[in-house]
Amino acid sequence: MTSTQTILVLGATGQTGQHFTRLALDAGHRVRALARNPAKLSLQHEGLEVVQGSISAPLDLDALLEGVDAVVLMLGDVVAQRDRLVNTTFVRALVPVMRRKGVRRLLYQAGGLSAAPGKRLMPVLRLVRATIARAYDGQHRDNEAVMRWLDTEARDIAWVVHRAGIGSDGPSKGELRRSRTWISIATFVDCAAYSLRLLFDDDAVHTCDGSAYRRGR
Ligand SMILES: NC(=O)c1ccc[n+]([C@@H]2O[C@H](COP(=O)([O-])OP(=O)(O)OC[C@H]3O[C@@H](n4cnc5c(N)ncnc54)[C@H](OP(=O)(O)O)[C@@H]3O)[C@@H](O)[C@H]2O)c1
Repeated sequence: MTSTQTILVLGATGQTGQHFTRLALDAGHRVRALARNPAKLSLQHEGLEVVQGSISAPLDLDALLEGVDAVVLMLGDVVAQRDRLVNTTFVRALVPVMRRKGVRRLLYQAGGLSAAPGKRLMPVLRLVRATIARAYDGQHRDNEAVMRWLDTEARDIAWVVHRAGIGSDGPSKGELRRSRTWISIATFVDCAAYSLRLLFDDDAVHTCDGSAYRRGR
């Protein structure tokens, strides 16, 4: 069991981020959430601090990272990412401030259709990305640029990337585990629970793996 940590969550109002924030608070951690619109976070908890702001506008990163042990990014803006590497630009600004503030741990949630550095997606996943998921191509290009940058420029930070294969907002379907070869279609709550475990898993540092249910679901 990890001791109480203070986690900065970017994307706490999102489909995975809302579950992640609740689960982290339930586990006894403190959460500082950056939200463009704090009213979207219905959760109220004494361990939750909400800061209004956007990653694409000027931010006081020193203040945001004050007292923080770990950073979690569950960010997505399909329209903005269509032709701009919004998350990459932010991560490149964030990491130097993390170094200065002594924050060493970071989890970035990407997608199963985002290829890990130096790897190609399986043909079936390339096909899905080019057809039914093509509206998200900019998001995957941004996620891939983040992974490449972390892999080459930030190996002094204990980062981990979860290439999630989310499919629905239904109830839990079981426990996800790290997988190099497979990505299950999961629920947001399962992806969030897995990301919370992954954040403090020393064996996963510097990996960009997917997640799969135990029994091949
Ligand atoms: N959805 C899926 O099925 C799926 C599948 C596989 C992987 N993924 C990956 O998982 C990650 C998170 O996806 P998701 O579906 O959970 O997220 P989501 O529901 O799209 O939410 C994205 C979050 O990012 C926040 N955000 C976007 N732009 C921001 C900005 N400029 N400043 C501050 N916050 C900003 C949003 O805030 P607002 O509430 O203000 O919009 C929201 O909280 C993405 O990398 C995505 O590629 C998603």
